[in-house]
Amino acid sequence: MNSYNLTTLIEFIIAKQADFPGAKGELSRLLYSIGVAAKMINKKVNKAGLVDILGTAGNINIQGEEQKKLDVFADQQLIGSLKASGEVCGVASEENDEIVVFDHEMSKDAKYLVCMDPLDGSSNIDVNVSIGTIFSIYRRLSPRGTKPGLEDFLQEGSKQIAAGYIIYGSSTMLVYTTGKGVNGFTLDPSLGEFCLSHEHIQTPPGSMYSINEGNYLAFPEGIKRFIKYCQDVDPANKRPYTSRYIGSLVADFHRNLLKGGIFLYPQTHKNPEGKLRLLYECNPMAFLAEQAGGKASHGNGRIMDIVPGSLHQRIPFYTGSTNMVDKVEEFLMA
Ligand code: AHG
Ligand code: MN
Ligand code: MN
Repeated sequence: MNSYNLTTLIEFIIAKQADFPGAKGELSRLLYSIGVAAKMINKKVNKAGLVDILGTAGNINIQGEEQKKLDVFADQQLIGSLKASGEVCGVASEENDEIVVFDHEMSKDAKYLVCMDPLDGSSNIDVNVSIGTIFSIYRRLSPRGTKPGLEDFLQEGSKQIAAGYIIYGSSTMLVYTTGKGVNGFTLDPSLGEFCLSHEHIQTPPGSMYSINEGNYLAFPEGIKRFIKYCQDVDPANKRPYTSRYIGSLVADFHRNLLKGGIFLYPQTHKNPEGKLRLLYECNPMAFLAEQAGGKASHGNGRIMDIVPGSLHQRIPFYTGSTNMVDKVEEFLMA
């Protein structure tokens, strides 16, 4: 703690470097550069209603979705910060069809790569609802000093070195893990610093379920039964379940992480593989969920055990409190 009784993100990151003997500060610098980009994105998000940055940028990304101007801004801001950090050799982003390789000398030598969803929940931007940024960090497989290739990015989630998200909500928070628990930092706008506010987050057993029930008829039978199980009033009226769905993964996940609950995005007729992307939505959230004592499943096993087949691969996603993820798996496998 410093004299103001605060621990800033950078102070915390540096203090935690001691958890990794032999660490040279490369990951610390990388995490710090994400924090800086987050502050720039936060500034733009806060101003979204004031300046002419709402609406579409007129492009369609690989998912066939309209890119919002803030999606593009967040992507470019993060890529710029990561490149400038010199600690990243390449990036996979929701907003770019192919991997982005940094090939100047310093970056070629870097040992890390980043997968990211620069702006998550972007359909909520125009209506002042919480949105986020998701990131996931891996060590490269290819030798340092060379250009990274697709194989470097197609690693199982269990190989993640760090992962986290920024939520631009009623306050802005950065939540991350390096595999030694989950910690949350709230942005103090007067200081312009992320300050430690949620130390060692643990997910309690949950009673909230978060799912787009508009897709109900398209869900697998096990999921329909799980929803009915949650809605059913048992004779003793003790079943505690209630529903909350924002439609921004970061915001739904964050609430469930702190309060307990489950987030579900099953396969549907429209999205037979599920909607959410393995590399930069599911894996990072799975790492955080597990580090907070929760779970993340694709219905029939652990998310982080999947060997990715492609950059923008989608997967059914069930994550949150262990008791509720176990229950869903039970219904899906029955
Ligand atoms: P993105 O804005 O990055 O494309 O992600 C949107 C995702 C995710 O944030 C959210 O959980 C999900 O889409 C909501 O989907 P539905 O609108 O189908 O419920
Ligand atoms: Mn997203
Ligand atoms: Mn996005």
